[in-house]
Amino acid sequence: MIERVKKYLEEVNSFSSTDALTIEEFRVSYSGKKGILNTLFAAFREVPIEQKKAFGQELNILKNAVSEKIKELQSKLKSTGGKSSISDPTRTPFPIQTGNRHPLSIVKNRIIDIFSQIGFTISEGPEIEDDWHNFTALNLPEHHPARDMQDTFFIQTDPDILLRTHTSSVQVRYMEKNQPPIRTISPGRVFRNEAISSRSHCIFHQIEGLYIAKDVSFSDLKQTLKYFTESLFGNSKIRLRPSYFPFTEPSAEVDIYWGLETEVDYRITKGTGWLEIMGCGMVDPNVLKNCGIDPDEYSGFAFGMGIERIAMLIYQISDIRLFFENDVRFLKQFKGTL
Ligand code: DAH
Repeated sequence: MIERVKKYLEEVNSFSSTDALTIEEFRVSYSGKKGILNTLFAAFREVPIEQKKAFGQELNILKNAVSEKIKELQSKLKSTGGKSSISDPTRTPFPIQTGNRHPLSIVKNRIIDIFSQIGFTISEGPEIEDDWHNFTALNLPEHHPARDMQDTFFIQTDPDILLRTHTSSVQVRYMEKNQPPIRTISPGRVFRNEAISSRSHCIFHQIEGLYIAKDVSFSDLKQTLKYFTESLFGNSKIRLRPSYFPFTEPSAEVDIYWGLETEVDYRITKGTGWLEIMGCGMVDPNVLKNCGIDPDEYSGFAFGMGIERIAMLIYQISDIRLFFENDVRFLKQFKGTL
């Protein structure tokens, strides 16, 4: 949380504009009724007592910086009569819209940041995969019924080649090339043939995580996930529910507590208050063996999450299609970083 306030402070201090509209947008985004300051002050209640003092101090610094900045910008504006002081006759008379990052990139970068801080590297693999890396090595041999969980796009002329259905394929590639200790996350696009409902989409984004070393236990997994969710969502509650994935044993699904205050909360959490955010588990010894790692010597955990799902939670977006329509009215709302 404090990190986030510091980031805002940097943003405020470096903000500069001579355009009345942009300055007004800046003012509303920080000091407006639903602006950043009010949101942070509301979140202050949730901050644990021992952090309240430090958090409160940072928050006040930010608040003062915002009001100083607005004063400074507005007085500059008055002195130039609201017009830019640059007299360049070739300049367009219209305010030029600057671009910003796509919300999925903002969320992905934040997740990468969080794991980088505890030593995870970033790895990538191909989107066009072979059967071995996407399925067989992950303990999903041919005809395994769990293959049906992920409707696959195959290349018509070669059934061995497909569009990867998950970023777990990168785990396999990484283990084939590296010996433990391994700490890596793999962001990327994945593909599933499941455009059957308005909520699903053929292309989406995942981040896979993998940690292999000596004596890694389930409690290491849980603690890592707790660190992650607290860094991303602030003070939050998670639970691990037993589940099944062929590549992990035991496996679990991770839920985050969302709340049950409004009708929407009831709808999206199906009346439970909990929302599933990822799958995880201890890497199955068969998978380690398939990738050339000795399961008697090493153990590890893996997890995988959909970036869309996380972004929808953070920004409270109810329709996944908005991410892919590229409507600038939607996209321009996501300024800055998380
Ligand atoms: N690959 C799974 C999926 O796409 C997600 C997942 C679950 C990844 C459990 C993992 C894991 O690494 O341990 O649904």
